[in-house]
Amino acid sequence: MADQLIIFDTTLRDGEQSPGASMTKDEKLRIARQLERLKVDVIEAGFAASSNGDFEAVQMIANAIKDSTVCSLSRANDRDISRAAEALKGANRGRIHTFIATSPLHMEKKLRMSPEQVLEQAKQAVRFGRNLCGDIEFSPEDGYRSEMDFLCRVIEAVINEGATTINVPDTVGYAIPELYGNFIKTLRERVPNSDKAVWSVHCHNDLGMAVANSLAGVKIGGARQIECTINGLGERAGNCALEEVVMAVKTRRDYFNLDLNIDTQHIVAASRMVSQITGFVVQPNKAVVGANAFAHASGIHQDGVLKARDTYEIMRAEDVGWSNNKIVLGKLSGRNAFKQRLQELGVSLDSETETNAAFARFKELADRKSEIFDEDILALVNEESVSH
Ligand code: KIV
Ligand code: ZN
Repeated sequence: MADQLIIFDTTLRDGEQSPGASMTKDEKLRIARQLERLKVDVIEAGFAASSNGDFEAVQMIANAIKDSTVCSLSRANDRDISRAAEALKGANRGRIHTFIATSPLHMEKKLRMSPEQVLEQAKQAVRFGRNLCGDIEFSPEDGYRSEMDFLCRVIEAVINEGATTINVPDTVGYAIPELYGNFIKTLRERVPNSDKAVWSVHCHNDLGMAVANSLAGVKIGGARQIECTINGLGERAGNCALEEVVMAVKTRRDYFNLDLNIDTQHIVAASRMVSQITGFVVQPNKAVVGANAFAHASGIHQDGVLKARDTYEIMRAEDVGWSNNKIVLGKLSGRNAFKQRLQELGVSLDSETETNAAFARFKELADRKSEIFDEDILALVNEESVSH
């Protein structure tokens, strides 16, 4: 039987840390709803203690989302953890994700703490969190550049305190797939109580290997949770891209032999929504969600695909939500065509009144612009939800 791979999306927390990608509460809620439609297992909704705005966003998402676990990040201290627990009160399933740095560089230069102090603080934080929430994730920040013996001690101790997920971040994107996979494997072999927690990978993309490293952490290391973001949004060069790892695991099930809950048909809509809200354009040749990802330009390829799609396609465009709907929306389009396009874009408006208002704005725009693109529709729907 295949194991389950947990998809932990951190677009709203690590993704939002990307310079210029900050989002309003309403925008975050829209993305959270799309992530729920996508059947993401865990949504990291923010860092509740970092600001009142983030607290309110986590709270709003925790109250609205029913199917996915909602998570808040917190530093390893009682105040942050209490704020996270408070924000998550309304969640069907809540998770507190607490972290402290464990690499020599971060402990000495950033935290100015000794390894023994860090170990004690990590234990204390997980103990405190466990009294407030049954689902505790612990991350040793800069874990991949940490010293193996010390990291094993910290992880063993936090599992004993009740941590249920252990996440090993490659915070600065320094890892190489085989080395990172073996790093996770060694940790799991050396930590005596390792089977009491789910192991998770969290990779940054500084060397362009976040997806490959995450997959190696799963295949070689035996991790069963991947932390990722839509379009790979995130600090510096970004995080592991959700659409890429998910489609790699699905398309190469023969190799990974893992089950996923993700409903891949909502991937393109999620990608467009995040791009439109943050203003971060998706490069045309981006895997899975780029405009050219399924386009065949050369004559030989076109001929091959017309004869048999498998000649040049390893995935189906429609399986990730690319629509082959060629209906052009403009001033003559009716309400049904408009509603249909909203559905394809993963937008569900809360009421008929909102749909009518959005349709009226669409008509106004169509009077000024001969062809209305998906981005225009997302923008006007966004204006609509902000004005409420
Ligand atoms: O990259 C990182 O180390 C993080 C942690 C807070 C999990 O985002
Ligand atoms: Zn990160």
